[in-house]
Amino acid sequence: MQEVMQKVEQKVRELLSGESSGHDWYHVKQVRDMALRIAEKEGGDKEIIELAALAHDVGDRKLHASEQKGEEVTLAVLKESNVPESVMEKVMDIIRRMSFKGADVADDMPMLEGKIVQDADRLYAIGAIGIARTFAYGGANGRLLYDPDVSTEMHASKDAYYANKSPTINHFYEKLLLLKDRMQTKTGREIAEGRHAYMEEFLRRFMAEWEARD
Ligand code: NI
Repeated sequence: MQEVMQKVEQKVRELLSGESSGHDWYHVKQVRDMALRIAEKEGGDKEIIELAALAHDVGDRKLHASEQKGEEVTLAVLKESNVPESVMEKVMDIIRRMSFKGADVADDMPMLEGKIVQDADRLYAIGAIGIARTFAYGGANGRLLYDPDVSTEMHASKDAYYANKSPTINHFYEKLLLLKDRMQTKTGREIAEGRHAYMEEFLRRFMAEWEARD
């Protein structure tokens, strides 16, 4: 299995190196390392966790023309690396369920391994790195930093969430500040606390500076 893992890692590195909107190899590496750290406390099958973490973003909807295309790329990475069929099915099931689909759309992740990888991924959507990635993504997609005239929206469907083009600051209220309470493991929740507090402090300062108060 070690050889399989190395192959997957190598393919993911090739596919994502130089990706500048926050889904590059180092993001994947951080999610893998964090998922394994959470698994130390929470348990779960480490191979499934590591494979799902490594492959979780190669088919991301933000990087492909369609969800189906993304899924094909992910499957190809696993198949070409000789991941056994039964393992591949579990990994694909986790990856399909992973993404955030709107503030008012509930998560559906029954497997412990999936909860762990999803928590690890979301921990990198918040905190200092989360803030950096959010603005990098916003810039790459032509979003304003902030516009006080555009109000935040709680999206009730994944289509509404995917279609929105609101300023980057709104994204904190529409997703990032909600993630702490959507953590699914105790360890994930504990780590999320500090990152969440840091984000709140960032927003407080941003608004103070925006209004020339600080
Ligand atoms: Ni990710």
